[in-house]
Amino acid sequence: MEKAQRIKETVSYLKSQLSSIPDVAIILGSGLGPLADKIEAEKILDYSQIPNFALSTAPGHSGRLVFGKLGGKNVLAMQGRFHYYEGYEMSTCIFPIQVFASLGIERLIVSNAAGGINVDYTPGELMLITDLLTGFCPSPMRGPNVDELGKRFFDMTFTFDTEWQELAREIAQEQNIVLHEGTYAFMPGPHFETPADIRALRTLGANAVGMSTVPEIIAARQAGMKILGVSCITNMAAGILDIALSGDDVNATAALVEERFCNFITAVVEKV
Ligand code: HPA
Repeated sequence: MEKAQRIKETVSYLKSQLSSIPDVAIILGSGLGPLADKIEAEKILDYSQIPNFALSTAPGHSGRLVFGKLGGKNVLAMQGRFHYYEGYEMSTCIFPIQVFASLGIERLIVSNAAGGINVDYTPGELMLITDLLTGFCPSPMRGPNVDELGKRFFDMTFTFDTEWQELAREIAQEQNIVLHEGTYAFMPGPHFETPADIRALRTLGANAVGMSTVPEIIAARQAGMKILGVSCITNMAAGILDIALSGDDVNATAALVEERFCNFITAVVEKV
């Protein structure tokens, strides 16, 4: 089936399941899934129930769509996303975003766990994503364009919604949390980067690195969504400290930040 057709099929399934068009879609990154438990859920859909959705295989990603109220708004949260490293095609990784945009959801919050490249960062802190290094990310828009979603060639200069970012800064101040701002670099994984990779990424201007987010933001941008990106710095990137990196440590730090992250995102949804 053609992609446009698959999107239509999934959109009409979701329309049959949801009582309204959500105000905001949220992608929850590694270990940040517990935010979904804060949603007053009206509907929970397993990815296995949703036509054309793939399954989430990454640890710390449960693979459910949670629809309900958060901060007084109707939200649709992806508890678990699809990563390129799981073996999925990029077009599969971004399929949910294209469905959300087609459904009429205008706003998207993308979160992730990331390694800190900027040595001023400390694990457990948050970073507002203000720019992206996309060069190591095979473009998810490669192949026939779905014209209903957006243009073949599209801007990535004004990717993030500046008003929403301003609100995020104010909320971080109010809640007394550190919110760095920086460039997120995509690396395909699943191996963590080498110290040389990290030195190279730093030279290129990256402040944080991760294995997700960039594909989804590219797709959301093409579809004209208002986007906010937040990284949870779960570890210092390879070679910065004299320690080995592990996925367990990433999830453990994300768990420590959980409450701060949930309060922050809730306010960012409530006040938008
Ligand atoms: N590198 C890539 N992805 C990550 C990291 C990292 O150091 N930490 C969390 N996700």
